[in-house]
Amino acid sequence: MFEAKPILQDGNKLLRKKSKKVKKPYSQEDRDFAKYLHDYLAFTQKPENIEKYNLRAGVGPAAPQLGVLKRICAIGIENFNDENDKEKVTSVTSFAFINPKIISYAQRKAYIIAGEGCLSITEEHKGYVPRAAFVTVQGYDALTEQELTVKLRGYEAIVIQHELDHLEGILFYDHIDKEDPFKKIPGALEI
Ligand code: CO
Repeated sequence: MFEAKPILQDGNKLLRKKSKKVKKPYSQEDRDFAKYLHDYLAFTQKPENIEKYNLRAGVGPAAPQLGVLKRICAIGIENFNDENDKEKVTSVTSFAFINPKIISYAQRKAYIIAGEGCLSITEEHKGYVPRAAFVTVQGYDALTEQELTVKLRGYEAIVIQHELDHLEGILFYDHIDKEDPFKKIPGALEI
């Protein structure tokens, strides 16, 4: 039975701390924790759990959200060919990263029109969060047990940037322009 530890909520000081790099060779405990974060994600995406535990569907918890200040995070994104038929998942982008880092960013920006969400934030923060539209990420993936270099674009690129922010103690609304939350972002990819 999966044990869903509580997700820390905004206001908790641990969410504002910088996470530490995980020492190599990666211990079994650290690799298991990365996989736990990935399982957590699957758990938060199940409709029956969302209702039962009052969750908001997540795309990827990062370790600090569970009070662990280590550079570990998971992402899991289901891709659909047909947005109107979400039963037909065509592929899943899944990683359980240890020490992920972005090694290159596109100049071009991307943002989610509806704004970003976070398992740690219930309060609504309206506005655009500008991110790089393409990123290259390097890190150890505990799911496939190997060092990976992956290129992510659009929504996936946004998600990994959101997760990596958690490792720096940054929350998505920090990026929203306080004066003009819906300020146009020239040439940005809209999602
Ligand atoms: Co978040």
